[in-house]
Amino acid sequence: MRALLLENVHPDAVTLLERAGCEVQALDRALDEAELSAALDGVHVLGIRSKTELPASLLSSPTARDLVAIGAFCIGTNQIDVATATNKGVAVFNAPFSNTRSVVELALAEIIALTRRLTEKNADMHAGVWDKSATGAHEVRGRRLGIVGYGNIGAQLSVLAEALGMTVSFYDTADKLALGNARRCQTLDELLASSDIVTLHVDGRSGNSGMFGAEQFDAMQPGSLFLNLSRGFVVDHTALRRCIDSGHLAGAAIDVFPTEPRSRGEEFESQLRGLPNVILTPHIGGSTEEAQQDIGRYVAGKLRDFVADGTTTMSVNLPHLALPQRADAHRLAHLHHNVPGVLARINGVLAEHKVNIEGQLLGTRGDIGYVLTDIATDDPDALVAELESLEETVRVRLLS
Ligand code: NAI
Repeated sequence: MRALLLENVHPDAVTLLERAGCEVQALDRALDEAELSAALDGVHVLGIRSKTELPASLLSSPTARDLVAIGAFCIGTNQIDVATATNKGVAVFNAPFSNTRSVVELALAEIIALTRRLTEKNADMHAGVWDKSATGAHEVRGRRLGIVGYGNIGAQLSVLAEALGMTVSFYDTADKLALGNARRCQTLDELLASSDIVTLHVDGRSGNSGMFGAEQFDAMQPGSLFLNLSRGFVVDHTALRRCIDSGHLAGAAIDVFPTEPRSRGEEFESQLRGLPNVILTPHIGGSTEEAQQDIGRYVAGKLRDFVADGTTTMSVNLPHLALPQRADAHRLAHLHHNVPGVLARINGVLAEHKVNIEGQLLGTRGDIGYVLTDIATDDPDALVAELESLEETVRVRLLS
């Protein structure tokens, strides 16, 4: 197996894949479509981060014919045409919660900093002003934290905030288990009316565009704090500025913006610049060395397991299957169009060849079906050729 890793993924990923027997080429930059198309020839596993685009044209090109898996060494997979990858039988993996803890720790740091008015004290000190006043400074213990979006990040924040003595409530559009003593709110308004601090951790679905604007800010408690570390387009920054200027909100911490500079040299433009009680950070919620290392290990581990034994646990696009490995069997991994009768046809081929099935697992997801079959035979290659010729077959791999 040959792996091509782009965009300077963590060295632990290289080590892990090499230990699994992959020949790894690691580059520290992204490649454009023409460069990548040439580089893909003979590559089975491709690792990228957010700067490499994988459009349908690239995934369908003849040089991508050997590709079996893509690892997105990041959270998002918008840069990949996942539907085309699926149609070609290419598994896609990402790292959905490798940086969860990093985001949570930044949120907690900001909650404490804003509650103690550290941003203003710090600015005063740098301007030579010594102001020891306690006015407006609070402990976070006993304060009411309202979490909007109780997914990986929201739930983890809930646990750590309670450990600091905060009273946690949350609102989520999906049914979620309330952890610890957290209280579930039935509506967003209920949460806004009962929180000293509101923090957004919703996902980036298009319906969340502009979900937090003037109406929601007005429904918050006077003197409360607001945080957004989720997605920039979720919040109306003009309305937020107005609420900070008027004093309705005591402060805010914003890590994500509707438009963000694409590179280091580009100027950061925002209505929120210049406000002493607003913490602005350049989308670094998940940017820690620990998170990068975890992403490297996590995604490389998923690629290794898929290549070696067909395991698709946590895949972005394929059914999630994990069949325990048997030392004495060959394993077939068969991806097919999800239409009735495919499993019967596969097993019919095996029966014709008088091959015993030692273990089998099938899963379907949308238009794709995936079946792992452990078989006892001395001539698996003949079977592979026959399974490849079935009209429903997308890809067959003989794994051992
Ligand atoms: P997740 O998918 O585990 O959780 C999102 C939760 O929000 C889900 O429970 C969902 O049901 C809920 N939700 C969606 N729309 C909602 C709405 N309108 N009202 C209430 N609940 C709603 O996602 P995860 O991993 O917790 O990430 C949360 C956000 O943080 C994402 O937008 C992600 O892009 C962002 N993020 C930001 C980082 C940064 O560097 N600042 C780093 C990592 C993630």
